[in-house]
Amino acid sequence: MKKKENRLMSECHSWKLLKENYRKVSQLHLSQLFSGDPQRGKRMTIEDSGVYFDYSKHRVTDETIQLLLQLAEESGLHDSIDAMFRGEKINITENRAALHIALRTPKGKSIVVDGKNVIPKVHNVLDRMADFSNQVRSGQWRGYTGKPMRNVINIGIGGSDLGPVMAYEALRYYSQRNLNFRFISNIDGTDFAEAIYDLDPEETLFIISSKSFTTQETMTNAWTAREWVLHQLKDKNAIARHFVAISTNVAKVKEFGILPENMFEFWDWVGGRYSLDSAIGLSTMIAIGSEKYRAMLDGFHQMDEHFLTTPFSRNIPVIMGLLGVWYNNFFEAQTVAVLPYEQYLKRFPAYLQQLTMESNGKHVTINGKEVPYQTGPIYWGEPGTNGQHSFYQLIHQGTKLVPCDFIAFMESLNPLGHHHDLLIANVFAQAEALAFGKTQQEAREEGIPENLIPHRVFEGNRPSSMLILDKLTPAVLGKLIALYEHIVFTQGVIWKIDSFDQWGVELGKVLAARIAPEFDSKIISTLQHDSSTNNLIRRYRRSKGLSSNG
Ligand code: F6P
Repeated sequence: MKKKENRLMSECHSWKLLKENYRKVSQLHLSQLFSGDPQRGKRMTIEDSGVYFDYSKHRVTDETIQLLLQLAEESGLHDSIDAMFRGEKINITENRAALHIALRTPKGKSIVVDGKNVIPKVHNVLDRMADFSNQVRSGQWRGYTGKPMRNVINIGIGGSDLGPVMAYEALRYYSQRNLNFRFISNIDGTDFAEAIYDLDPEETLFIISSKSFTTQETMTNAWTAREWVLHQLKDKNAIARHFVAISTNVAKVKEFGILPENMFEFWDWVGGRYSLDSAIGLSTMIAIGSEKYRAMLDGFHQMDEHFLTTPFSRNIPVIMGLLGVWYNNFFEAQTVAVLPYEQYLKRFPAYLQQLTMESNGKHVTINGKEVPYQTGPIYWGEPGTNGQHSFYQLIHQGTKLVPCDFIAFMESLNPLGHHHDLLIANVFAQAEALAFGKTQQEAREEGIPENLIPHRVFEGNRPSSMLILDKLTPAVLGKLIALYEHIVFTQGVIWKIDSFDQWGVELGKVLAARIAPEFDSKIISTLQHDSSTNNLIRRYRRSKGLSSNG
């Protein structure tokens, strides 16, 4: 018999049983499930670590949940979680640990990678970040001409951008308001031009965030920023006062001209999309201060502990991960909508897109074999009520099944009149409408004309999770992010894929590097691409006034 960890999902005994279960459950309506079990809405909930999770509005029976839990066991999830927390090199294709949990492990604990305890160096960097943030926040950190910093610009892309932007927006309420935070990621010059449009270089601090310090977009923006600063300040010594770097690549940082003391390090065992709580979070720390930043790390850690120690049947990321597998692999749902009813979380869906899709968008197993089933779904979403007036139509009445994650907070950070009651009424109402819909009979009883009945019926039976948290604090944000990290992990283990590599981003990068010089020279040798790409290149060359031969 194959060892658990080598067994494909489709080879598990529970998989076959789940297939049978699906045949029955897919015929059931949530209305039936609720009317047959008056306690369902209370029973199918978990409250732990400050998160209330209601999964009663999912198209599952108790048997489904039992079988999904069995699938987790058969897939070796326990061992895989232990392996991650022990710092084993679970990122097989890059031969690296995936140890983001170490970034929020309290001082004094030990996690050993390559024979060394990494926790002291994590805290050493955190202390340096705290010291630097305090200096910037207090105005003690001066620019080259002696002015305090008023603007902090993070330059980075992917994990070196999405985390910082999302966290800044999420925690803006707690941010120091006399500091301006901006984020530049796109190679499109507009991103840079608009970010610096009204700023004075003398009062601007750039944080160059790049794990590799070679990413084309980031380095191009970083060099443009350098020119912008030097154009005004005219002295290379100014760089030390206006640029800091966050990277794993000391040599490249030096080459750029940033002093080693202005570099904040992280390590190859931190994946880009898992790096928000490494030094990549420096802009967040400057915004909210080191104490609140540490509170955010404590929130992450609480969710880590929950994931590590709670039995699977009460384990929120495990249950959410399994429900994701249920819809992805049995109902064949292609997407998941993440719908935060909290304006400050407006960038959370975009952040989750990288976390989930770069992690689990894989077509081969860790052993390099084609997976015989679907892997990661497409994540998308928007803050709640705005979505209601745009794409919710499709979720309610379209032909596609879109499982939804609703995220709501009991307390508003900005209580204004009735706003919060209405916001919460909306999120509860949406989950209710999706689950139970409106029958023909109900529509008729409302006096809807017969010809409109088909248009006005809501079939319901559309599943959703409800996550309830107290209010959006740094700690709560940490919990929420860690929750999704562990959902992704759970699913990756079940699908038997490497959730920590991202080879799929390489080819486009290589081809762009090949095409870029073909826009430059006056004369080009014969273009060697396909006829479409060749024509596109010629067209662009013409628009630049260059010869379009080749
Ligand atoms: O191209 C994808 C990617 O490698 C992401 O995984 C990463 O977060 C991003 O690029 C940025 O990489 P870096 O931090 O090395 O600049």
